[in-house]
Amino acid sequence: MERTAKLTFEGHELELPIEEGAEGELAIDVSDLYGKTGATTLDRSLANTALCRSQITYIDGDKGILRYRGIPIEDLVYRPNFVEIAWLLIFGRLPNRQELSDFSEALSNNQLLHEGLRHQFQHIPVDAPPMAILSAMLNNLACYHQELLTVEDTEQFTLAAARLISKVRTIAAFSYRRSRGLPIIHPDPALRYCANFLHMMFSVPYRHHVLDPEIEDALNLIFILHADHEQNCSTATVRTVGSARANLFASCAAGVCALWGPLHGGANVEVISMLEQIAAGGMEPEECIRLAKDKDSGFRLFGFGHRVYKNYDPRAKILRETCERVFARIQVRDPLLDIARKLEELALKDSYFVDRRLYPNVDFYSGIILRAMGIPTNMFTVCFAIGRLPGWIAHWKEQHDDPSSRIIRPRQVYLGSKQRGYVPMSER
Ligand code: ACO
Repeated sequence: MERTAKLTFEGHELELPIEEGAEGELAIDVSDLYGKTGATTLDRSLANTALCRSQITYIDGDKGILRYRGIPIEDLVYRPNFVEIAWLLIFGRLPNRQELSDFSEALSNNQLLHEGLRHQFQHIPVDAPPMAILSAMLNNLACYHQELLTVEDTEQFTLAAARLISKVRTIAAFSYRRSRGLPIIHPDPALRYCANFLHMMFSVPYRHHVLDPEIEDALNLIFILHADHEQNCSTATVRTVGSARANLFASCAAGVCALWGPLHGGANVEVISMLEQIAAGGMEPEECIRLAKDKDSGFRLFGFGHRVYKNYDPRAKILRETCERVFARIQVRDPLLDIARKLEELALKDSYFVDRRLYPNVDFYSGIILRAMGIPTNMFTVCFAIGRLPGWIAHWKEQHDDPSSRIIRPRQVYLGSKQRGYVPMSER
């Protein structure tokens, strides 16, 4: 028998269907409520609203579970490479050898930027924020690949996806080089995905960057851990823009803009600023915790808390271990790691954080590892975007392929003035 929920509204009883997810999670379907009652539902910040049906990523925030296409994140981080995970997310299953090789080849064939796009870097202010450059340049890809603005078949879609996943890394590295006044280093098709990014970031003419395999692995892991996270702010943005049938480039450019915010992907930058301030003696860790608890301070403990996780973010757990490994390998001590550990220790025994179930999230330790790789702070959120791109593309595709999807258009509760007349300027 179909399960339903009953709603009594203005003397009428309504039966609302209940939808059950693959892991038993329940959703009351209110899609027809407005049509039947004339009333909307109010769900501030959509904290209680399932935006769509999806088969890509599963999260159990209470238990700290994260799975891509059913596979636990812990099983994905040490074996495959990021390109394999991108394919898994986008196409729904692990690729076979041939499929992976074809996709890797498509990435290599599309890693260069059109010369017109490359020249645009010359006109950007040297100190421009890299996230602004990334968003603009991803959107600009639409000018140079107009044949991919509408995607009619899998071949066309795969080409658009490969262009984005490959070029995002080139654009990111070029924006860094430009900010440092360094010559642009072109991608090397002989290198793997992460190695190629590090090469474009750190090689100089006639001197190839010497790659540490531990660093390449750590970057691969960071990209994989960021690759998807179901309906987060930037992914919901990509879906919203894509629901208007906007092209893949424009939709992903919008995702970059959402990710930039300090409450989302920009938190990894805020974490480092906070740790640096403590390291410079500007604040004691205890003071930092006190400020985070004081609602009037406007300060938050960045890298802590999550809308969905009410347990330790499994990505943060993996990153914490990776931090230890990377620092042991490169034999460097970063005082910021000790401060981060201290903050975590203080927060996890403080009733404010315990009662609200606030734990470290993915941004708490990722910046410390990126710093150890020599990646500057203003590139952290860009690295997050490179990692998240396959997730955005997978969600865009899922929605694009769903014949029942409609334009996303929420409603509001209007609290403004009732109708009133226009007052001419002379009478105001
Ligand atoms: N420091 C101090 N207090 C916090 C923090 C924090 N980092 N996070 C949440 N709280 C408090 C809130 O003030 C609120 O307290 P109250 O119940 O007394 O009003 C309570 O915990 C619940 O928090 P919400 O704001 O309702 O949580 P929400 O789901 O809206 O926000 C968010 C989640 C934005 C991640 C929040 O925890 C936060 O601002 N964290 C810091 C920024 C951050 O690290 N963002 C990255 C998130 S992961 C990602 O996007 C990749």
